[in-house]
Amino acid sequence: MLRRFFAVRQRTEEMLMQKKISKIPFKGTPEQEARLKAVIAECQGDQSRLMHVMQQAQGIYGYLPYEVQVMIAEGMGVPLEKVYGVATFYAQFALSPKGKYNVSVCLGTACYVKGSQDVLDKICAGLGVEAGECSADGNFSVEECRCIGACGLAPVFTINGEVYGKVTADDVPGILAKYQNA
Ligand code: FES
Repeated sequence: MLRRFFAVRQRTEEMLMQKKISKIPFKGTPEQEARLKAVIAECQGDQSRLMHVMQQAQGIYGYLPYEVQVMIAEGMGVPLEKVYGVATFYAQFALSPKGKYNVSVCLGTACYVKGSQDVLDKICAGLGVEAGECSADGNFSVEECRCIGACGLAPVFTINGEVYGKVTADDVPGILAKYQNA
């Protein structure tokens, strides 16, 4: 039983480590670029400030698309792989924009053993959006998350913070319809 618990947890954590570069076209503005360049100029020559620059960049763009990672790497004089490595290691960094409605599915152990992967698959199929991505129209994004502290309601997902608990894959279309028709 204990072995199964750790196997499930390891699989969940491996899945959560996978962050994908967004396929949504980059739409940064000249103003955003100017703000990022100003932050980089302040920190240039001090690689210990890479995290700070990345945090500021996420504040400016809302996420860290490939193009922004390249600007940071070139500006800070560090390999692009290093910027990507930091962006994927820390949960605070997002590689994909958030949609108007952000669907967050818990893949923590309690939810996972109660079928949250099926719920996630149904959500992705219903919205035509992969986990970790945002729809082309910007309406929906889907992400995987760790335990949100509502294990008694497992499996759980949230939409813009509203909690849906004890859900099955069959419940998903009806819940999504409320937002698709909003
Ligand atoms: S594991 Fe999903 S809420 Fe705790």
